[in-house]
Parts: sequence; C-alpha cells; structure tokens
Amino acid sequence: MINKSQLKKVLTIGALAASLTPLSIAAKREVKVGAVFPMTGAVATYGQESVNGIKLALKKINAEGKVHINLKIEDNKSEPQESANAVTKLITSDNVDAIIGSVASSNTLAGAPIAQTNKIPLLTPASTNEKVTMTGDFISRTCFTDAFQGVVMAKFAYEKLNKKKMAVIIDNSSDYSKGLSKVFKAKFKELGGKLVSEEDFAYIQKDTDFRSLLRKIKRTKPDAIFLPGYYTEVGLILKQARQMGMNMPFLGGDGWDSPTLQKLAGKAVSGNYISSHFAPDDKDERVQEFVKEYKAEYGQNPGAMAALGYDGILVMADAIAKAKSTKNTDIQAAILATKEFVGVTGSITIDENRNAKKSAVVLETTPAGNIFNSKVNP
Ligand code: PHE
Repeated sequence: MINKSQLKKVLTIGALAASLTPLSIAAKREVKVGAVFPMTGAVATYGQESVNGIKLALKKINAEGKVHINLKIEDNKSEPQESANAVTKLITSDNVDAIIGSVASSNTLAGAPIAQTNKIPLLTPASTNEKVTMTGDFISRTCFTDAFQGVVMAKFAYEKLNKKKMAVIIDNSSDYSKGLSKVFKAKFKELGGKLVSEEDFAYIQKDTDFRSLLRKIKRTKPDAIFLPGYYTEVGLILKQARQMGMNMPFLGGDGWDSPTLQKLAGKAVSGNYISSHFAPDDKDERVQEFVKEYKAEYGQNPGAMAALGYDGILVMADAIAKAKSTKNTDIQAAILATKEFVGVTGSITIDENRNAKKSAVVLETTPAGNIFNSKVNP
C-alpha cells in the first residue's frame, strides 16, 4: 500500500513523465503523400519549382506537430504515360494516403483516372484544364480553372490593351492549350473582338522552328496574338517573331510562368502579358515573407509553380489534420471542405465541382522577370 504523499509523488512523476514523453508526437498523424511532378523533360522547371515550394512548406508542417507527411516524389518526365505509371506505382507499391500533382493538364488527366478508380485523393496544385476535376469525386484542385483565366485575358486584351483583331496560336499536343484558347476566343468575340481566322494556328510540343507558321500569321496583320503554350516553345516563338519584325504584344497564360522563359526569349520577352497565380512583387505581407524565405533557401525568386506547390501541400496538410481519420474517404471529405484557406496564391475555397475559386494576376513579362500589372477576382 502507498500512502497519500507517496501517491501524490507517483502522480506527479506520472504527469511529469507524460509531459516528457512527446505526447504531441504520439498524437501526430503520420501519412504518406505521393508527389507526381515533371522533374525532367520539356517542362522540368514546373516540377523543380513545385518540389522546392512543397519542401519549404513541409518544414513548417512537420515541425508544427499535427501531421507528419512523408513525401514520395515521382518524376513523370513531363509525359502523360509516365504520369499514369507514377500514379499506379505510388498507389500499388508505396501505398500512399494521398497524391499531390501534377502540373501540365494532359499529365494530370492521364494519372487522375487511376487515383479515382482506387479512391485515393488526388489534389493538383496547378492543372487548370476544366476536364481534370471532372474525372471524379476523388480529384480536386487548389488553383483556378482555364474558364476563368481565359476570360481574364480576353478582357485584358480587349478592354485594357484595346486590341480588336487577334490571332490565336495553340499547342495541339496540350489539353491546356486547346481548352484555354477556346475560352479566350469565345469571350474575345463576345466582347466585340475579331479573330484573323476561325481556324487555329497550331504547333506541337518539341517543335523548334516556328518561322513558317509565324509568316502565315504575319500576313493576316493581327494587332495582338494569344499564345496559350508552355515556356519552352513560347520562348522560341517570341524570339523568332521579334526577329521577323512582329512587334505586337503576345498574350499568354500561366504556362509561360517559368524562369526559363526569360532565358530562352531574352529581350523578346518584353512587352507581353500573361495571366498567372502569383506575383513575387505583390505587396501582400504573406507573399513577401514567402518570397524572402524562398530566396534564402534557393537563391532565386519563386515563380507561380513554387507558390502553387507551397499552397497545395499546406491545404492538404490542413485537411489531413482536420480529417476524422486518415481513411481515404475522410481525407477527401476534409480536402473538399476547404474554405478560405489563405495562401500565397490567394484565398482558397474548394467549390462543389472540386475547383478553387481564386483571384488571378496579370503580369507583364520583362527580361528581368515578371512584374505585377493587376489582380482580377472571380
Ligand atoms: N495550368 C497549366 C496546365 O494546366 C500548368 C501550369 C500551372 C504551368 C502554373 C505553369 C504554372 O497545364
């Protein structure tokens, strides 16, 4: 038998021990998240920036004590088939609880049906094509869609730049490019704008010589050109167009947002505008703090993908912490319940179609980097 004072001592020691044993760690949710990104190939900067942003956020998430995310990164080599393989591997051999990725819509569209069939939550931080989340109820996104971004740029062209006659060049190998050009054209015409031709001018990924295509367009005398492509081809197109004396503004979407665009196009990047998710020169305090941290870690300014990756994993971690359990259906329900999550790319609310309602920014592209022009709310 122990007496009262001994009991008190035992209890005190017990309480002390309990406070010493890292209870917070015991209660910490341990999950495995698969990340499918283009670390190599045509759009490799998207993957590299995404993973940089995700790792920066993970430091905070894992230090905070609610969830511990073990990240398993898979390189999709910028290809749809590789994206599908990566999703399959993450689900069947790595047994991940959820997946974040990918970037280019055609890649996400190739992997999403596999996540849907296996009922594994897949959240894309960056794929804007409408069809992505239509894959099913396990697929969501923390970025806006092309239905929004296309309208933003059509209005910017017609109302702000006062351009009335435009040409549209599409990347025929990209769901993103095809979808975004459709929205742009419909809105531009609705506003009263004219297209130099109903038929799209088109190229495919990995093309390098755009001169004959540009020559055809030059003859139609557009006063601006909409080019919803990815930075690799866009960089070359801008350069070749300026060399051919085509000095009208080119307008694009988030696909231009890569530090490599400036390297490829050089001075030819000047005088053009894009819609995107994030402006590193945004005065917002949260944005400036993120820019500072990112620069300290990686020695360069974050682009859109770095910011989207950062916000995407933060939303996922927040959902995992709030979920009833780490069961697939509980994690997915918590992701879909995301409301007004304030990130560096804006306030994120996931709507009934599993898309995020968010603001977009219009940026002017300059050789020194992209600069903020305006913000457009949904
Ligand atoms: N929105 C593009 C797509 O769906 C991907 C992208 C996002 C590229 C952000 C750059 C920056 O294909």
